[in-house]
Amino acid sequence: MVEFSFFFRRKWLLFLALNEIRHSLLRCGGRLEMSDRFGCSAGCDKVDDLQVNRARRAHLVFSIQRKLEAVRILGIESSCDETAAAVVEDGSRILSSVVASQISTHARYGGVVPELASREHLRAIVPVMRLALEQSATRLEGLGAIAVTQGPGLVGSLLVGITYAKALALVRHLPLIAVNHIEGHIHAVVSQNPVELPALALVVSGGHTHLYEVREKFVYRLLGKTRDDAAGEAFDKVAKLLGFSYPGGPIIDMLAPHGDRHVVPFTLAKMKGNTLDFSFSGLKTAVLRWTEARDLSAEVDARRELLQNNPNPSVDEWLAVTSRETLDMLASFQHTVIRELLRHAVKAAEEIDARSLVISGGVACNAGLRLAAAATRLPYPIFFPIPGLSTDNAAMIAAAAFPKFARGEFADSTLRAQANLALA
Ligand code: KG4
Ligand code: ZN
Repeated sequence: MVEFSFFFRRKWLLFLALNEIRHSLLRCGGRLEMSDRFGCSAGCDKVDDLQVNRARRAHLVFSIQRKLEAVRILGIESSCDETAAAVVEDGSRILSSVVASQISTHARYGGVVPELASREHLRAIVPVMRLALEQSATRLEGLGAIAVTQGPGLVGSLLVGITYAKALALVRHLPLIAVNHIEGHIHAVVSQNPVELPALALVVSGGHTHLYEVREKFVYRLLGKTRDDAAGEAFDKVAKLLGFSYPGGPIIDMLAPHGDRHVVPFTLAKMKGNTLDFSFSGLKTAVLRWTEARDLSAEVDARRELLQNNPNPSVDEWLAVTSRETLDMLASFQHTVIRELLRHAVKAAEEIDARSLVISGGVACNAGLRLAAAATRLPYPIFFPIPGLSTDNAAMIAAAAFPKFARGEFADSTLRAQANLALA
């Protein structure tokens, strides 16, 4: 096969990837601003056919199985507001993990703005991917596969990662592996710890509060889920209501130890039907009623002013503009969420006779949750992700892809973003 010069190959790769992303986003109605620094003009031709033929895939499976012992997978994650790329060897050795956060873009809106997220992904994906390769001292030809988040998530955001991954896979003749974002969160833990199966996995983030049974060969069964807000979403909404910045989870986590968690007696509704389901919208409304019952306008204004001068206040700066009663309420709110999460997780673990409990997703960063879990005496171990793998990252996507790689479970150019992709 004729080899392109390095320069031409690189240009062509970027051209192909970015042009495909641009067309895909326009197809789904996303607004998009293309940066000239990627050298793509309005006259670019769209690459229509990325079909990988079956024979080549069969050959790839064969060659891949031979080098299964030291396979490096490039993971790409762009499901929400983090553009991430990572190189993971053999499913667990993280050689690099680069995350470009968009928090500063969305913070002023109090949540993720989908159109802005897509645009930021487009800006970040090439430099993030290059940095991940550089930090892992891996060249594209040293990769065994490319893994990408297929969903769930924001469709415009997912499309950026998927289109880029498809283009790279096509150009480099690499297998493409589609990964469910929730499965990624589970592998953030199982790839780094001696998790015995069956395990109970609680995935608790800004978009999910789900309980899964994890069986051998990574077969999943959904046992319970939130019927309304995810726990992380409840943290974010409560924080927004009180004039704190986005994301609210880390701020409430930071402030909760300064309040008394027993002061506000929040209660959660008993679930009808599946008692392993969650519901946090009632708690959110209770916080709203609590704020409406007092005049907090001065402290809320003070916090908003603080944020205008400093987008990232320290705990002392937050404490200076937060009353004792608000601190008590935040501590009580966090305590109620933690109690509910652990109560359901332990109950579900008992039901399936779990040998391990896995708690993952952004809310798994919560120090109060980790302390409460450690204080719970259980006949099986509880595993949390290391902090860098709790919130969205691409190492978890590359790790989750490894068993699929071993099984030869590859995607092709028909791979599409699925905003509501279910794990089970
Ligand atoms: O997993 P993640 O990065 O993205 C999603 O898949 O949603 O989770 C983000 C969520 C946000 O709602 C954020 O407020 C929450 O995780 N979060 C926390 C903490 N750190 C992040 N919630 C509570 N305590 C924390 N320390
Ligand atoms: Zn996530």
